[in-house]
Amino acid sequence: MSTAFVIFGASGDLTARKLIPALYNKFRKKRLPEALHIIGFSRTQFSDETFREKMKEAITKYTPHDYDESVWKEFARNLHYQSGDVDNIDHYQILKKRMSQFENRPENLLFYLATAPVLYPKVITRLHEASLTAESGQNGFRRIIIEKPFGRDLSSALILNNALHTVMDEKQIYRIDHYLGKETVQNVLVFRFGNAIFEPLWNRNYIDHVQITVAESEGVGHRAGYYDQTGALRDMFQNHLLQLLMLVAMESPVVFEAEALRNEKVKVLRALRDIPPEYSSRYTVRGQYEGYLSEEGVNPKSRTETYTTVQLYIDNWRWQGVPFYLQSGKKMKEKSSEISIQFRRPPTQILDIAAGKTELFTNRLSICIQPNEGMHLCFLAKVPDQGLQTHQVDMNYQFQDSFGSIVIPEAYERLLLDALLGDASLFARSDEIELSWKFIDGILSGWESEYAPQLFRYQPGSWGPDEANYLIGREGRWWIHECTQHQKSTTM
Ligand code: BG6
Repeated sequence: MSTAFVIFGASGDLTARKLIPALYNKFRKKRLPEALHIIGFSRTQFSDETFREKMKEAITKYTPHDYDESVWKEFARNLHYQSGDVDNIDHYQILKKRMSQFENRPENLLFYLATAPVLYPKVITRLHEASLTAESGQNGFRRIIIEKPFGRDLSSALILNNALHTVMDEKQIYRIDHYLGKETVQNVLVFRFGNAIFEPLWNRNYIDHVQITVAESEGVGHRAGYYDQTGALRDMFQNHLLQLLMLVAMESPVVFEAEALRNEKVKVLRALRDIPPEYSSRYTVRGQYEGYLSEEGVNPKSRTETYTTVQLYIDNWRWQGVPFYLQSGKKMKEKSSEISIQFRRPPTQILDIAAGKTELFTNRLSICIQPNEGMHLCFLAKVPDQGLQTHQVDMNYQFQDSFGSIVIPEAYERLLLDALLGDASLFARSDEIELSWKFIDGILSGWESEYAPQLFRYQPGSWGPDEANYLIGREGRWWIHECTQHQKSTTM
């Protein structure tokens, strides 16, 4: 069966930077379904040839090591372009006719919404009016992939979900969160549920707290227009950080299938303790980097946060009382995404005390999502020939050491292929989106209330505002940057 992959918003940055390179790479690895037509659709007037030229430039720019002229030529034969207005039903009819004239007429249709988010409802409605959304049992599949942001609060997400559910079943809808496409993020599941030794410890009896840090060294760059209306909480927490949280905190699904997996993830969101407005200064920190206000495209009086910390609790048997500290920001010291599981102290610190130490030791597991993908387990060892003196040592696993010959693929490669194959495990379901917005909306309403925390400034190149250290420090804890330390020691 032949398939059409139609990209709305094809002249945009995402198509050139991520989507086409991902599809090209999957084609190069011979993983794409046979007879796949890729059709770019957007307002800009391009011929097929110009579109191909632009996409070739994109591949040579964004994934230069993978470029191979003969593979490209073969791939380019499947690339087409249709200019049109996403709000004009006639242009969908033209698209439909065009597809019907392809040799090997596509029976399966996959639509990718990479337009400005305000256009999503229009595209959905027009696709439906052009009879492109219904699966009849006689035609092939009809699926839609939606790029983030999925709404900007609970009510807009509900409106979008309703628009989608009016024309499609939930099983036809694939909401992208590119963090779920990252190999190291999927490895959290394999690590937790494929090894018997960690799961018995993965609970409040053994874990003191969990940290999730997604730090970026870049500022807002050319996306200031979007970012200044969005901020770190909406841009990173509602999706990526809460997805990481769900994978760390969820129960094991009974089978590894989309519905079972997503049912377990949703239970974590249901158990999240709301942060009432009067507690927002206690449990959240908002920061803005120095110099943000003079970035091009940023309102010089902007109060948008470029950094956020949230301390949260999951009220269930496994996690009751265990704090989860989440932080994310731009212009931070280093680009580093890391999950840190801090275990409880041994009940007696006989060894430390014998060695006259004041800083007491705890075990720690750090999962390095990116860069320098790997894991570190920190434990105590005896220093030889020094009486009972102990030293903290590290058991180190690096993806590159074990799978050095395999280049870690871009997140989009996996996600686009999964959508083509009909596997929704790594996509967000409607209830996941709604519950995560509900939690985020709660924080936002605190930020808009009389109890709003101050917006603290921080230096570019730092680890965020000092207040984030005070928040975690008041309970005798501190931020862990284990993965960046390892990065340094291995590159030195
Ligand atoms: C995007 C955000 O979803 O994720 C960006 O909109 C952010 O602001 C990006 O820079 C981070 O992704 P990654 O894969 O580089 O960690």
